[in-house]
Amino acid sequence: MRGLQVQVLLGVPLSFFMFIVFEGIDGTGKSTQVRLLAEALTARGLEVITSKEPTDGPHGTRLRQSAQSGRLSPQEELDLFHLDRREHVENLIKPALARGAVVILDRYFFSTMAYQGIRGFDPIEIRRINEKFAPLPDIVLILELDLDTALSRIGVRDGQGNEFEQRDALQKCHDVFASLDDDFVHRIDARKSPEEVHSDVIRALSSIQFI
Ligand code: TYD
Repeated sequence: MRGLQVQVLLGVPLSFFMFIVFEGIDGTGKSTQVRLLAEALTARGLEVITSKEPTDGPHGTRLRQSAQSGRLSPQEELDLFHLDRREHVENLIKPALARGAVVILDRYFFSTMAYQGIRGFDPIEIRRINEKFAPLPDIVLILELDLDTALSRIGVRDGQGNEFEQRDALQKCHDVFASLDDDFVHRIDARKSPEEVHSDVIRALSSIQFI
């Protein structure tokens, strides 16, 4: 319904969605695609809010630091991602959606299913916990890339790189993302140039009638 309202407002043959999430393993170019999509929608006169998880708030900052300085226990890490997301949902996501802005996120709870899933938690249970407080997106765009390309993009070779970015972990995360089969999940081939991937993102958004 919301996408239809935007379509009518713009008078263009595109249905845009109000809550858009980019997901994918490290190195797939999510932040570039968030920026390109935000620019495209802003140019069409929409109010666009972009954000990312972990956030730059206190919990998110602690999580980023821990990736470099020493990994937290699985439970501590999971709790911090949930605290960070609760604040994000209450302070930014819900207010922006309520006033009709388009929200575009670089990662959301599907990343928790993947990255904390591989630390021993059940991805389905993680999702159940998140769905109690975190609204479902209108569309999730999963940027897909083979591991070798992803690892070379993030500069990891022969076991180098930070704790979050190891090959085995990325393979398992990839598998969790691959297991998502909701109607709102769309997969985009991220091997192409940023401009080509952006075109595919626009195509994915316009291919669905949101009524
Ligand atoms: P990332 O998007 O790579 O940010 P940046 O490169 O700007 O630091 O996110 C940092 C890491 O956080 C990434 O490896 C995935 C991880 N992560 C989780 O483990 N669980 C989560 O719920 C989220 C949102 C991210």
